[in-house]
Amino acid sequence: MIRNDVKAEEEAIALYKEIIKLAKEEDDTTTRKLFEDILRDEEDHHNTFTGLLE
Ligand SMILES: [Fe+2]
Repeated sequence: MIRNDVKAEEEAIALYKEIIKLAKEEDDTTTRKLFEDILRDEEDHHNTFTGLLE
């Protein structure tokens, strides 16, 4: 169960990083900041779930 959560977080992190990259290329500051905030949350979730596996 937790391993699936870790995988889902990793997929979300990869997706949000790609969106941030595209937002930078498009000079879309609002989208970039929005997804940087979301990315931080997802990285926290990832840390929580990986910590539970230790
Ligand atoms: Fe999450």
